[in-house]
Amino acid sequence: MTLRLSVLISGGGSNLRSIQAAIDEGKCDARIVLVASDRASAAGLAFAAERGLPSCVVSPRDHADRAAWDVALAAKVAEQAPDLVVLAGFMRIVGAPLLERFPRRIINVHPALLPLFPGTTGPEQAIATGMRVTGCTVHVVDAGVDTGPIIAQAVVRVLPTDTADTLHERIQHAEHALFPLVVAGIASGTITLDPTVAVPGAIDDGSVMLAPLLRAGTS
Ligand code: GAR
Repeated sequence: MTLRLSVLISGGGSNLRSIQAAIDEGKCDARIVLVASDRASAAGLAFAAERGLPSCVVSPRDHADRAAWDVALAAKVAEQAPDLVVLAGFMRIVGAPLLERFPRRIINVHPALLPLFPGTTGPEQAIATGMRVTGCTVHVVDAGVDTGPIIAQAVVRVLPTDTADTLHERIQHAEHALFPLVVAGIASGTITLDPTVAVPGAIDDGSVMLAPLLRAGTS
């Protein structure tokens, strides 16, 4: 059954594009039923419009307080009855209303090898701490900041010449390979978000994920 996705963005939407590309190429049995942004200026909204994907803006500015925004966002996302909520560069902490409506059904991509470097400065911190490798993580979202169970990771080298921007760019290459792969795995049932369910042949060996990504991440 085609997986219904709600994709939440705040910015450029390159991860949104990579997921749509995998769907277009027949690599991921999913359909984006909503693109929701907390910012009207998010460039990813233009992509959604181009592609005719339903989209909306749920801005904190339009709500009395954080709690009201949380409720409004959860309601908007729930309207489309997604099977999976995908945080693709969504730069806000998800509140209880969304978590409670979609338990273990929200995933996020983060530009570091969690649990190292949560927050908004993953690439900067990898350079500042002298890491020789960093990468990206796809994880289940819980109430913490980038703390939920890790589903998959990809490794990216830190080059001596790297700035935070050049490193982030290569990490994003890895994200664009890893994130659609995880969504495709969830759609096909090779990845489960339910820790109580054993999936025969599940992708539980990071090397399966890493093989194509090392090429993408170091070019
Ligand atoms: C991505 O690199 C993602 O890992 C990061 O924001 C970028 C969004 O790019 N997310 C976080 O830092 C969340 N903690 P995109 O809008 O082009 O997909």
